[in-house]
Amino acid sequence: MKIRDFLYFAGFGIKTVLCKSKKPILGTVIVTDRCNLKCKHCSVNNITSVIHPYRQIKEEMKQLYDMGIRILFFCGGETFLWEDSGKTLRDLVIEAKQMGFLIVNVVTNGTHPIDLPEADLILLSLDGDRERHNLIRGDTYDTIMQNIAKATADNICFYMAINQINKGAVKEVCALARDTANVRAVSFNFHTPYPDTAELALSREEKAQCCRDIEQMMKEGAPVFNLRRTFPYLINNTFPTPCYQCVVMENGKLSTCGRCIEVPGLCEKCGYFFVAEYTLIFSGKLSIVAEMLRTYLKYI
Ligand SMILES: C[S@@+](CC[C@H](N)C(=O)[O-])C[C@H]1O[C@@H](n2cnc3c(N)ncnc32)[C@H](O)[C@@H]1O
Ligand code: SF4
Ligand code: SF4
Repeated sequence: MKIRDFLYFAGFGIKTVLCKSKKPILGTVIVTDRCNLKCKHCSVNNITSVIHPYRQIKEEMKQLYDMGIRILFFCGGETFLWEDSGKTLRDLVIEAKQMGFLIVNVVTNGTHPIDLPEADLILLSLDGDRERHNLIRGDTYDTIMQNIAKATADNICFYMAINQINKGAVKEVCALARDTANVRAVSFNFHTPYPDTAELALSREEKAQCCRDIEQMMKEGAPVFNLRRTFPYLINNTFPTPCYQCVVMENGKLSTCGRCIEVPGLCEKCGYFFVAEYTLIFSGKLSIVAEMLRTYLKYI
């Protein structure tokens, strides 16, 4: 990360903490909800299947930039399915950088060839070893591994949503993040139990075991892009929600924190690590801020 960008984020953080500001800094644009997969834990694929037009996405990016957002995520559906008016996802990333976003990340299921060197991070969903990943995501593991090996940059970060099916595979994914070329780290979430996938949620004790596994792997040198000090809050669901520093834009509609904010009662059961990390950082927990600085400077 450039020093200038670092100072921008530091200034934002100080203002947010001191003034208890609710201004957002992180925005996600949903480019489409169309997806080539139908993962067992996912409630947001192929609801409309619309590929949002290039001009609309550009306007949404501009709107987010004008609101002060400087960390941009492209998400879906499957982001690599997006194309319009001769533009691809890679063009969106390049244009976001040109617009002035300081960090531009993409979330993908990894089943398409990965040629996105301009992205700061490609969060690539890997939900376990071959067996458990394929149980959740269909027969995709080998294709994903081939795409990672052929990727044109080393900006990949595994993204694992831990649930009842793959809760025993946390250590394997940590080791794979450490040992796979082009992969920089792994970042975790716990399953967030939408009404149609509630049976996949982890109990408090199961979350605690997963956090012990992650911590052990961190101690053994695995590259984990999460903040250890937020684990107790994630295990007990005691972090503040929603995250006012994050917004999501889907088809012209802006939501605070996530699209899921409209699902009654879901925030109390939220499993997204970024929500715990951001809300605790911006509530001024200094030890978590210090850990965040060390971690972000290592992986971005
Ligand atoms: C909705 S997907 C969209 C991007 C891309 N299709 C992918 O799979 O990475 C974004 C991330 O959300 C995760 N996810 C989906 N449903 C979830 C849930 N209920 N709780 C936690 N994570 C979830 C997925 O595993 C994936 O890592
Ligand atoms: S690949 Fe992503 S969007 Fe598609 S079904 Fe799986 S989690 Fe949902
Ligand atoms: S806090 Fe609520 S809105 Fe935010 S990601 Fe969690 S469930 Fe969704």
